[in-house]
Amino acid sequence: MEKHVLLRDLDVPNIREIAVYQANDGYAAWRKAIGSLEVAGMKPDEVMGVVKDAGLRGRGGAGFPAGLKWSFLPKDMFPKYVVVNGDESEAGTFKDHQLVENNPHQVIEGVALCSYAVQAGTAYIYLRGEFYEPAKALQKAIDEAYAAGLLGKNIFGTSYSLDIHIHLGAGAYICGEETALLESLEGKLGQPRLRPPFPAVQGLYAKPTVINNIETLANVPPIVLYGAKWYRQFGTEKSPGTKIFCVSGRVNKPGNFELPLGQYTIRDLIEMAGGTIDGRPVKGILPAGSSAPILPASVLDTKLDYESVAAAGSILGSASFVILDDTVDIVWAARKMVRFFKHESCGKCTPCREGTFWALRVYDKIVSGHGTQRDIDMLVDVANGMANKCFCLLGEFSTSPVLSTIKHFRPEYEQFIREHHDGKSGIYQDELIRDHAISVLSEAPTGKSH
Ligand SMILES: Cc1cc2nc3c(=O)[nH]c(=O)nc-3n(C[C@H](O)[C@H](O)[C@H](O)COP(=O)(O)O)c2cc1C
Ligand code: SF4
Repeated sequence: MEKHVLLRDLDVPNIREIAVYQANDGYAAWRKAIGSLEVAGMKPDEVMGVVKDAGLRGRGGAGFPAGLKWSFLPKDMFPKYVVVNGDESEAGTFKDHQLVENNPHQVIEGVALCSYAVQAGTAYIYLRGEFYEPAKALQKAIDEAYAAGLLGKNIFGTSYSLDIHIHLGAGAYICGEETALLESLEGKLGQPRLRPPFPAVQGLYAKPTVINNIETLANVPPIVLYGAKWYRQFGTEKSPGTKIFCVSGRVNKPGNFELPLGQYTIRDLIEMAGGTIDGRPVKGILPAGSSAPILPASVLDTKLDYESVAAAGSILGSASFVILDDTVDIVWAARKMVRFFKHESCGKCTPCREGTFWALRVYDKIVSGHGTQRDIDMLVDVANGMANKCFCLLGEFSTSPVLSTIKHFRPEYEQFIREHHDGKSGIYQDELIRDHAISVLSEAPTGKSH
């Protein structure tokens, strides 16, 4: 069922230690690629070629082919940088955390191979601010790799040198957006940049930069070691390889499950996660946390790959499946997600800054028992007013919980408003008061720290 190409810690105890990792083919791809004074390695273009042939798609959300992205970097501009996105702030996503903490050398080896392929001499691994323990584990592994001569100056006696640094963010969701991440890494306020120029040409410090997700790069060592054909035995033609699926919400055994893409269905995934609590019926599925349009239970037999989830009306994104059963109030869930986006909006552009504010105001009116049926259309209007007008995808994402829950669960909204319309029986009063207190504290005049 599960195939552990990435979550190897589940099969090999203590693989986080360099000796155990090396005894299990660890750094063999790195040695193969870079060679040594005596043995010729692979040319950087060959490493890029095998990743292209493998069809590895980015695991950070958009599913963009990794090898193709690397090939966009101009060959004659130096220095170049590799930036690794470990911000992992999407609701329900916790796969990069497990990789960094339990299989850090595979992440480092992937970063090194990517850096070599594009001829970058420095790589930065950007981790979300709360990842204090994973950052410690990763730093320990980086130190071990330096001590073993796998990183640093003139690796294995070749002319290639590489340094890897860790950078901790400050817990802002927007800093997972690649250009905001670059701003944050440069010490500025984490707000997205206008594109073009794209990071491949003008990224970190205005130099050519590859930005890839942690899980994306953790795939690279086995691809380089065993080849594209080996990798393509898993997954489908358009979605090759395995993918880590994070499952949370109303299931008995939440956790990470690594599966070949396109082989199993959402229903299978829920079963692997121990089924729903008390066996209750599934009401909705968020396949990529709060950013993805909610799917109704009627599509439980959708295959788990990029194309199938898109055809069902949502996105696979980072594959953070949040399962909602029939005990979950959809209006409450949608409000919670909108509140998240309102809180995380960086404020740079008006549609998102104002739109998330107004959407939350309408939700608060509804859940405090003052809603009217017209407010449902008002929510749709606000969301449509934002769609395709925001500076970055965060603003677009914020319309998903509104539009998709109203599309699939409008009768629930109508019933909620009918049953809670006396101005007193707002069932989430305590939550509203608590949220308001948190907002006042976290949005104090000093502003957010990104
Ligand atoms: C609001 C927002 C948050 C994001 N958060 C993350 C994140 O936490 N981790 C991540 O890898 N990509 C995140 N992304 C996607 C990145 O912008 C980028 O596409 C990704 O890091 C590229 O890596 P990949 O090609 O390996 O997927 C986010 C995008 C947006 C718009
Ligand atoms: S869409 Fe939102 S998060 Fe993105 S730039 Fe505009 S205000 Fe900032």
